[in-house]
Amino acid sequence: MKKLLVATGGGDCPGLNAVIRGIVKRASRQKEWEVWGSYEALNGLMEEPIRLIRLDGKTVSGIHVKGGTILGTTNKGNPMSYPEKQADGSVKLVNRIPWLVDRLKGKGFDAVINIGGDGSQAISQAMFEAGMPVVGVPKTIDNDLNSTDFTFGFQTAVQTASESFDRLVTTASSHHRVMIMEVMGRDAGWIALYTAISGGAEVCLIPEIPYDLQAVAERLQGRYIDGRGFANIVIAEGAKAKDGTVTASKGEEGRHAVRLGGVCYTLSQQLKDAGIKADIRETVLGHTQRGGTPIAYDRVIASVFGVKAMELVLDGNFGQLVVLKNNDYTSVSIKEAISAYNYVDPNGTLVKAAKGLGIYFGD
Ligand code: F6P
Repeated sequence: MKKLLVATGGGDCPGLNAVIRGIVKRASRQKEWEVWGSYEALNGLMEEPIRLIRLDGKTVSGIHVKGGTILGTTNKGNPMSYPEKQADGSVKLVNRIPWLVDRLKGKGFDAVINIGGDGSQAISQAMFEAGMPVVGVPKTIDNDLNSTDFTFGFQTAVQTASESFDRLVTTASSHHRVMIMEVMGRDAGWIALYTAISGGAEVCLIPEIPYDLQAVAERLQGRYIDGRGFANIVIAEGAKAKDGTVTASKGEEGRHAVRLGGVCYTLSQQLKDAGIKADIRETVLGHTQRGGTPIAYDRVIASVFGVKAMELVLDGNFGQLVVLKNNDYTSVSIKEAISAYNYVDPNGTLVKAAKGLGIYFGD
């Protein structure tokens, strides 16, 4: 019997459990592989005592409809820069990849399926280069991973954001207010863009298109405050004014240097300072976009990704990331996938279509 380790890393995302179930179900058809899960990304394997769980048909039964991940996850403890306490009490970031690969082999593991975003896939690639057979599965609600049309979880996040947006439209209309809704999207504005088109936003502000504040204020004043009497804006957490910086607080050690959030309050103040007299209200959707049940579309992508990832393991095709490309499920090398980032193209079809619908990007 060969041993496979599965891990879910980075921020959670609707569909993680469906991937785990897909892997285990496909593996059980062959009876050649025993599947194990590591708690909280690869930390479960790295810690003493070790924290692993045997994954079988019973463990994964029915979990595809559940949000979160039965394995837990973390975005701390990256083995490529692992915080290690030194004899003098100081903390040094060390590369523990060679140690991790030795540990995996020492515990009898023949392969790893690592489910995660760009950070986790950089770890997958490092493990692969250090001699560990690894397959990656792309995950993130932000849809910012290159080489795949969609990551699972993105459409669920859009659905959540879109439903919230619709609710804000009716209350904005009743009270003649300007509503600003902040969605996730650290470097890429996919959730904001899809929500703006789906909900019919007046203004959509994304990281890829720094906004001209005066122009946004004029747009609101001219077309809506003096006209329809209310307006709805969607803004991605990583958006910023042309001459401004992102709205953030201090991040955590070993992770992002800054934690994003609160840009809707920044924009609200900027609009007031620019002379907009409307009653402006702000809503931060935050982690509601990451939690909860995956919609059917994401369950399908995630389940197929799980099966495909296991098939790559069965075929001995390692160093690969499963992807959805041109409506087909296939794979690309992890190295290629992490070499670029999936930004919204400011001159692309979707932004042009949104502009055609009258959505203003502040450019
Ligand atoms: O990468 C996904 C994401 O949801 C980003 O949009 C956001 O900036 C980040 O994760 C937040 O992570 P955390 O919940 O760990 O603060």
